[in-house]
Amino acid sequence: MSEGTTFYITTPIFYPNANLHMGHAYSTTLSDIIARYQRLQGKEVYFLTGADENAGTVVRAAKKAGQETYMYLDHIVANFKDLFSKLEISYDQFIRTSDETAHWSGAKELWNRIAKAGDFEKRSYEGLYCVGHESFITEKDLVDGKCPDHNEVPQFLKEENYFFKLSKYTANIKEKIEKGELEIVPQTRKNEILALLERGLEDVSFSRPADKVSVGIPIPNDPTQKMYVWCDALANYISALGFGSGDPTLYEKFWPADVHVIGKDILRFHAGIWLGMLLSAGLPLPKKILVHSFITSGGKKMSKTLGNVIDPQQLIGEYGSEAVRYYLARHISPFEDGDLTVERFKEVYNGELANGIGNLVSRVLKMAVTNGVAIPTEHHEILPLQYSEAFDHYKINDACEVIWRKIQEADKHIQDKQPFKLIKTNPEEAKKDIALLLVDVWKIAVMLEPLMPSTSATIQTLLKENRMPENPLFPRKD
Ligand code: MSP
Repeated sequence: MSEGTTFYITTPIFYPNANLHMGHAYSTTLSDIIARYQRLQGKEVYFLTGADENAGTVVRAAKKAGQETYMYLDHIVANFKDLFSKLEISYDQFIRTSDETAHWSGAKELWNRIAKAGDFEKRSYEGLYCVGHESFITEKDLVDGKCPDHNEVPQFLKEENYFFKLSKYTANIKEKIEKGELEIVPQTRKNEILALLERGLEDVSFSRPADKVSVGIPIPNDPTQKMYVWCDALANYISALGFGSGDPTLYEKFWPADVHVIGKDILRFHAGIWLGMLLSAGLPLPKKILVHSFITSGGKKMSKTLGNVIDPQQLIGEYGSEAVRYYLARHISPFEDGDLTVERFKEVYNGELANGIGNLVSRVLKMAVTNGVAIPTEHHEILPLQYSEAFDHYKINDACEVIWRKIQEADKHIQDKQPFKLIKTNPEEAKKDIALLLVDVWKIAVMLEPLMPSTSATIQTLLKENRMPENPLFPRKD
């Protein structure tokens, strides 16, 4: 994955305009699984997530809820954090872009550097702005006069703004991506962005008149303007590390990021605008951008606009967070859209968790405890090559396949050798068999660590204490 002893990983920062759905939970869980795997590899990981608060979409949602913006934000962000804690997201920092101490000085310093490079120009501009995208869009993007992604008519804006001269960085960004100095994973997304770069990047409006937007960071030396929300939001990746603050220790230690995890809809902001900003400011580029696909529900992108969202809290309440993590890891490929419905979730839960791993663990421990067999003290922690390779290529679902193959092998072993019967005729042989099965279960538990941390810890404790689970790990649901 990456050399060195540190590993800096980020999620996108989420708009607190509603509670998070399973699509958002995916970005975060995928990042958490990678962060945990890297910790197992001995890396010192810094894991950042947060909320993108200075956005029109948030102000609008607060108004609709009849609440004052900051009250609304605090409430929704508390819900984000509650969800992340239930999902066992092991983040080191949760940044809020409304937090002046944590974020604003870094964002302003970045702005100042871009200004110093001569890359801002005041221009009067008119165009169509989609609040859902938080970006200008063109006539040709519209379907029946509406933004098709957000099903709304864009605003017509005529303003004087600071423009960031992004176009001049096109060639430089393209070269860095082509040479692999900055990796974009998977290859299809790399090709997609190279095609966009081939057509050339356009300059971007980077500010809004302060009297037209109620939230946002004032532009240094020009209080009549506020920062464009994407400029503000992207800066979080370095402001969170103390860039531009009195204490840049984390920045010096962890930047450049090892990987930015993002969804495919925000690739152009990251591989275009963000890289341009860093190049302009003379800062190192991130090493990798990992672009995941979408969770669909009933074949369509899960989104609030389409009204097909599944609430992660509901699934967690019913099946537990480990089951949610499991589904996302095994049944959603990072690189292809993957479907999730409540019916399918239940099927998978019963088939693969209750009957699969849950059943195996209780069967093996029952045989071990009743026959007085303990796990051998000498067992080595070697992860199968296929498992590590899958992780190294971010193919988390393939890593799960390695684990589930091992579970099936162990099941088959029990079926073929029937140690619970053999114990009557050849106890020595049967006990050897049970000991081997205990080691298998232990290996499975070790591989589960990044994916299902609590299940992994529970199994390891049961093995150590040589006892059966008091309750089934995954009780069947009818
Ligand atoms: N605030 C911006 C990101 C700024 S990063 C500097 C944003 N926020 S968002 O809340 O709209 O989306 C956050 C992430 O959730 C994005 O990576 C997006 O791709 C992801 N998802 C939203 N719906 C999704 C699915 N249905 N499936 C998978 N991920 C999806 O964009």
